[in-house]
Amino acid sequence: MRKVITYGTYDLFHEGHRRLLERAKKLGDYLIVGVTTEAYDEVRGKLNVRQSLMERVAQVQASGLADEVIIEEYEGQKINDIQKHNVAIFAIGSDWLGKFDYLNDYCEVIYLDRTKGVSSTELRNAEGILNIGIAGTGRIAKRFVSEARFVSGVDIIGAYSRNSANVNNFVNEFELALPANNYNELLDSVDAIYIATPHNTHKDYALKALNRGKHVLCEKPMALTEACVAELQCAAANNNVVLLEGIKTAFSPGFNRLITYAKSGVIGKILAVDATFTKLTDGKPRELQKKQGGGSFFELGSYPLLVILKLLGKDYSKISAVQYLPDNAEVELYSRVEVLYPNAIGSARTGLGVKSEGDLVISGTKGYIYVPAPWWKTEYFEVRFENSNENRKFFYKFDGDGLRYELANFVNMIRAKKMQTYQLSFDDTKWIARVLEQSQSHMHVIK
Ligand code: CTP
Repeated sequence: MRKVITYGTYDLFHEGHRRLLERAKKLGDYLIVGVTTEAYDEVRGKLNVRQSLMERVAQVQASGLADEVIIEEYEGQKINDIQKHNVAIFAIGSDWLGKFDYLNDYCEVIYLDRTKGVSSTELRNAEGILNIGIAGTGRIAKRFVSEARFVSGVDIIGAYSRNSANVNNFVNEFELALPANNYNELLDSVDAIYIATPHNTHKDYALKALNRGKHVLCEKPMALTEACVAELQCAAANNNVVLLEGIKTAFSPGFNRLITYAKSGVIGKILAVDATFTKLTDGKPRELQKKQGGGSFFELGSYPLLVILKLLGKDYSKISAVQYLPDNAEVELYSRVEVLYPNAIGSARTGLGVKSEGDLVISGTKGYIYVPAPWWKTEYFEVRFENSNENRKFFYKFDGDGLRYELANFVNMIRAKKMQTYQLSFDDTKWIARVLEQSQSHMHVIK
């Protein structure tokens, strides 16, 4: 029997997929189709897949062309599959021409002409491109435009900032169509808005956008108080639009694996989570200014609080905090916030102009997990035990600055009309805002 194998995502199964499978099947007597997992697609940069793995598998099966469907989970799996299933021919569309020549060592490689005029990307985009505007033209806004190029189905069309010279420079630098003269002009031209203004202004920008029926992706912290976050969430629900806080770590593949792995019981009961994020600063950026909602904990605390929340839950009993606030500074430059639970403790440390090891340690009764700096861009973690022979290392891909994961998630929510995501629910965002707010009133100050 001559076995043929082929692989793909098969999102929104279309005529091009069907024709490829038909021709692949004719090359032999038995066709094996490999369908990629969500995790593998994320790793290879395909961030906008619409359908779940099970839906995609069901469609390939329903085509009646596959004799066997397998799941493709990791880079290099094709070599194993070909040997394991004793495959004679590997077939793939001509968009991959030359890319799989290395498989010639294991079987015959055939590139089949791609069907013209149809692709999953086009079908996804047929629902229309999502036009996004940016409020704010600072450092993070610049990174966002660069990262958006990796997410299909979106177009960053313009920007607004109070300083019109900044807007003009920004749109020129990134070749955007609309240098908005005022915020309303930007809102009128977009489906969604990314808010990257100083923290103290997030709420007003977000509220205006939501009340005009625009989806909002808002940089962290979404607002400076829990009440403001709740008000925004209400506005989002009333206007039936998506509101998401931009804590990029929450959407990255490695971080999600880390959380589920830690929660699986492998290190026993989790007793402590210690997470640090510090940054050195130049000059007097907005994060060092009181009126702009600055301070190390407002600037960076969302990341350690996210991991504490995900691992220890919402029901803490007390918060205790120490901050370093020298006489010549407007805002605290280092914070150590302890979130105390009945049976566990979370410790969040942040610094601006104070540098420390930016790692994450999750301590359990059977072992611990160590994530080296920068743990908030989780690429690697190690599970360690008393008996070091049992230690294990895990590696993941984290592309670019990571904003692409948060944007892809935001876009997928809008497309699927899903108002909340388990990765960062409304309650999660509110909890983080609550601890940020409460920590300020429980501070013990050192000078
Ligand atoms: N394919 C094809 N003709 C098309 C589209 C896809 O022959 N018009 C082939 C691909 O070359 C591949 C298989 O179908 O061998 C599965 O491709 P997949 O990546 O799932 O589909 P695309 O439509 O190319 O997806 P995307 O637009 O997301 O890249």
